[in-house]
Amino acid sequence: MNADVKRWVERDGPRFLRQIGAKEGQELLDFGSGEGHYALPAAKVVGRRGKVYAVERDDRLVVELRQLLDEYGISNVVVIHSDSPVDLPSDSIDIALCYDVIHFADQSGRKRIYAEIRRVLREQGQLSVYPKHRQNDEPLMELAHSDLQAVIREIECEGFVLESKSIEELMHDDYYNKGYVLNFRKGDRAECPA
Ligand SMILES: C[S@@+](CC[C@H](N)C(=O)[O-])C[C@H]1O[C@@H](n2cnc3c(N)ncnc32)[C@H](O)[C@@H]1O
Repeated sequence: MNADVKRWVERDGPRFLRQIGAKEGQELLDFGSGEGHYALPAAKVVGRRGKVYAVERDDRLVVELRQLLDEYGISNVVVIHSDSPVDLPSDSIDIALCYDVIHFADQSGRKRIYAEIRRVLREQGQLSVYPKHRQNDEPLMELAHSDLQAVIREIECEGFVLESKSIEELMHDDYYNKGYVLNFRKGDRAECPA
């Protein structure tokens, strides 16, 4: 872990997560957690009364995350080695993070991810998305041709309402990077073309 990641995990990450609404005692899902650059600070914010579920499909990153959890002595993160939050109960999660991950999934894959997240979120639950690698932000993979409005529209079509959109200083891979953060609440499915 380089000095920036350490500073993020220990100081700026918890501050950022509190700013988007994370609180002590909550249950937080970090979908596509990687080695835990958001799960680790989230563990600090939700504290011993709360829990973080880190869903990650990559074997190597799961091992790295488990090592970091040991090093930090963190016991309130449940690592789910999977490509979906399918095993979590419905209406159980306060905040779901989809950070720098949705570009991995094609349109039908993203639909499935949003539907699963909607199922596991509590009624007042929040979905927070960092849509890196879209058209105007180092375009890559499945999001390369989607602009920010298309990302928002797609998520609203799956039963969410955009509550806030802001540019934040975030951790991307292992360096600080400004990016859009989109915060949604559960809502009705919007009228959308099939
Ligand atoms: C670029 S990394 C971002 C990691 C972390 N969210 C962050 O922002 O630091 C994206 C991660 O999502 C994982 N991932 C992609 N699709 C996934 C899926 N369907 N289920 C679980 N993990 C997935 C990848 O293996 C990778 O570790």
